[in-house]
Amino acid sequence: MGRLYYGSDELLGQPAFPGVQDPTLVYYHFRPARPANLLVTRDPDSGELNLAAGTFGPLTDHPYTICLHLHSSPHSALSLSAVGAECVVALPGRDLIRETWIPALPLPRGIFEAEVAELSLLDSQVVSVPGIAECPVNLECVVEFVRDLYGRATAVFLKVVAASIDEEMLTRDRAGQIGHYPTYEVDDATNIWGGSIERLGVNGELLECPGFPAGAKRGFNSDMTAWVADLRQEGYLSEAEGAALSGWIEELSSAAGRNPALRERVTRALASAAWEEWDDLHAQLSGE
Ligand SMILES: Cc1cc2nc3c(=O)[nH]c(=O)nc-3n(C[C@H](O)[C@H](O)[C@H](O)COP(=O)(O)O)c2cc1C
Repeated sequence: MGRLYYGSDELLGQPAFPGVQDPTLVYYHFRPARPANLLVTRDPDSGELNLAAGTFGPLTDHPYTICLHLHSSPHSALSLSAVGAECVVALPGRDLIRETWIPALPLPRGIFEAEVAELSLLDSQVVSVPGIAECPVNLECVVEFVRDLYGRATAVFLKVVAASIDEEMLTRDRAGQIGHYPTYEVDDATNIWGGSIERLGVNGELLECPGFPAGAKRGFNSDMTAWVADLRQEGYLSEAEGAALSGWIEELSSAAGRNPALRERVTRALASAAWEEWDDLHAQLSGE
């Protein structure tokens, strides 16, 4: 078994794999699952509401900003074409799969997809556009930045200015929450008529990352100095070993890329700590 390589042009068409009929089989792997949303906007000309299914990605945490990519959502793109435009990004649960699909139907401008999908509206606190009552989470947003991408899509950056959550969600444990929402657009399946049908999924498993001593006690938001201090405090490193490791790291930062031997030494030491191979780390720090 080897590894398959594709160039950017090949990615545009659905890359083929010898003997495989399903055109989505390879492409699926290059566009992993994305969180799904129901986007409520207001038509700037008519003032009518519009609902579209989409996917979004987070941009920054402080302030909380997210990004939409509108490539087949002309009505949403029109409504969000100006900085300052308002919208609600509602996050549907697994009980709303058909309701998520219906707004993606090519309904004419002027038809409010929420009515066809039999979804009800939720008053917003800050923006003038309502959210979706059946969705456990509604993010109220304001457009910060809009950019055309290659004439094929519009990237819309949104600042989240308020949010609401269904209290019922908070009665579930985390595993119960992730099994319910967010839903993700996972792949496209090809139906018997050659049509492409989106499929959604939810998370099934929580996989714990290691944490201290493979990292500082306060986690990845902490820094190298704190990690070494934590290792010393808990007896993973002696006072002298901690000082030696800190010294190497300090020296490396001033030597930048000019000392490959030191870089190699620090890499090995940090790998030993990250893999919790303490005997190896002691040996390295004692110069054995
Ligand atoms: C789960 C799901 C995710 C979708 N994600 C996107 C997306 O990220 N961007 C997009 O342009 N269209 C996406 N679509 C398709 C649009 O929802 C669809 O083209 C819709 O008719 C656009 O409506 P509008 O023109 O009223 O904005 C998605 C559809 C589904 C069902």
